[in-house]
Amino acid sequence: MAQWNNGRRFEGRVAVVTGAGGALGGAVAKALGAEGAAVALGYRSSADSAQEALASIEAAGSSGHTGQLEVTDSDSVDAFVAEVAERYGRIDVLVNAAGRIDPADAVRFADSDVAAFTTLLDVDLLGSFRVCQAAVPHLRESGNGAIVNFSGSYGNGVNQDNVVNSVAVTYCAAKGGVRAFTSALARDLAPEIRVNAIAPGPIAANWEDDWEIPKEHIDEALAMTPLGRMGKPEEIAESVLYLASDGGGYTTGQVLEVSGGWIMDG
Ligand SMILES: NC(=O)c1ccc[n+]([C@@H]2O[C@H](COP(=O)([O-])OP(=O)(O)OC[C@H]3O[C@@H](n4cnc5c(N)ncnc54)[C@H](OP(=O)(O)O)[C@@H]3O)[C@@H](O)[C@H]2O)c1
Repeated sequence: MAQWNNGRRFEGRVAVVTGAGGALGGAVAKALGAEGAAVALGYRSSADSAQEALASIEAAGSSGHTGQLEVTDSDSVDAFVAEVAERYGRIDVLVNAAGRIDPADAVRFADSDVAAFTTLLDVDLLGSFRVCQAAVPHLRESGNGAIVNFSGSYGNGVNQDNVVNSVAVTYCAAKGGVRAFTSALARDLAPEIRVNAIAPGPIAANWEDDWEIPKEHIDEALAMTPLGRMGKPEEIAESVLYLASDGGGYTTGQVLEVSGGWIMDG
């Protein structure tokens, strides 16, 4: 019987992580590095925190590099991916963790504006598309190519009065787009490359500071969470690693909800 997890599931593999200066992308990058991957950490403006994640990867005995990456710019995406392929000679895993976190995307429909929605789609949906398009030729050659996109649990079957969860119309639409992109791409790229998405629920990251979500809404979100607490970035990372690893080898086209029970399928 195959031993799926020897603690070094990504030894000899190369992973690209976008949004690696962020809370979840950083956690994923560190976890991949801790399990042996060489990691290319793409950041937009958070060079220092991407560098911190790289230091942790190097401390674990793995290698990697950081590079500036703007996922709304095809030239930037193409250059970043080409550099990774040239530097390491292969790409096995792509994690699209870059996402726009902006209070303008957490408003009711009447307050939504088309410019904010356009930017959101350009980062979360088209950004993932651009990086996939650049990386797929390399992932195809890997033999174990895996893509993990970032959707979200927001808007699914939760209290409709909660401003965080069900009235962020544009955010839910963008993350729904990532779901559809994921399953369509999984069919298109099978059997060579597996494509899945992670759908985080409320994860302790930067809700109050970056999203400016009022404390009362955070309390409300927690009250609706069966597991009674926010998730940890490391718990998202572990789920991403499962999807990207050989143990997830029969899983494709899925959206894995990691939401403390916000969403219960089945
Ligand atoms: N935290 C949660 O509770 C939660 C829940 C559901 C879904 N998610 C999703 O999980 C993903 C990661 O979120 P997070 O919580 O880790 O937020 P975060 O800490 O703000 O990280 C997101 C990262 O995306 C990068 N980014 C934004 N626009 C970009 C662009 N145009 N080009 C390249 N990079 C760009 C940012 O880079 P710089 O910092 O370098 O500028 C940022 O570090 C997002 O897709 C988010 O929607 C998060």
